[in-house]
Amino acid sequence: MNVLATADEMRRWTVQRKAAGESVGLVPTMGYLHEAHLSLVDLAKRASGAVVVSVFVNPTQFGPGEDYEAYPRDEERDLRLCRERGVAAVYLPPVSEMYPEGYATYVEVEGLGDQLCGASRPGHFRGVCTVVSKLFNAVQPDVAVFGRKDAQQARILERMTSDLQFGIRIVLGDTLREHDGLAMSSRNVRLSREHRAQAPALYRGLRDALRLFERGERSASEIVRAARERIERDAPGGDVEYVELVDWNTLAPVTSIERTALLALAVRFGPVRLIDNVLLEV
Ligand code: PAJ
Repeated sequence: MNVLATADEMRRWTVQRKAAGESVGLVPTMGYLHEAHLSLVDLAKRASGAVVVSVFVNPTQFGPGEDYEAYPRDEERDLRLCRERGVAAVYLPPVSEMYPEGYATYVEVEGLGDQLCGASRPGHFRGVCTVVSKLFNAVQPDVAVFGRKDAQQARILERMTSDLQFGIRIVLGDTLREHDGLAMSSRNVRLSREHRAQAPALYRGLRDALRLFERGERSASEIVRAARERIERDAPGGDVEYVELVDWNTLAPVTSIERTALLALAVRFGPVRLIDNVLLEV
């Protein structure tokens, strides 16, 4: 497994792989890898010949007062997990490589980032789109894999990839969960014991709402209320930031479900902000 630190090295590596007739798949991550990241590696393997994992905690997607400094990091372990999973290369650029002094260029997708996480984290998706554009330029993959756990991010990156004509196929992987339903996340380790015990309420709330939808309910306010009530009851230590129902394609709020919709939420447990979602498919 190769470990590369600069865009030039990374690009040379990809040129060689492509010259050897292989296609290249990229799984962008912020590290502290868990089984869900590795499931995206498996998906990338099925879609391409050689898999690159990027590990970079991207400062530009964290707002002031967010957890950039506290974000968990363990490079040694990440490299071991990648090696064990058959990753061909890890791209591990330092911050100075990605954002050298004088750095001034950003990528912004209009519209899709206005609601859900975009509303409470201004500038977040601008940082995500900027770093993913840079990763795309450095790695030049044929395929890039993202998780549906970050559904809004996935939709925005699909839009960006198409609008900027990167010529990269985007593949989305399903959300992986712990045994009790909590969506896997690098941030879960930062939950207190009490909050960790309450956090599965997020998925229980989403499941209650999904059941209501499956029984024929189409009113957004009823569906949102079902999720919210369950979470407020089962997770008194959580602070619900939003529970929203939006159109899967446009991410615009819906009042009544007529096309496939996304029920998404964010809940804060002390300093830890968790997100989750389910798709209500029509
Ligand atoms: P990170 O949170 O490390 O996630 C990396 C990828 O793993 C993302 O595509 C995310 O959606 C996916 N993922 C995380 N938890 C998941 C789960 N439980 N099930 C399925 N997929 C999951 O998302 C980022 O990093 C960053 O914003 C990044 C895209 C790397 C840009 O910096």
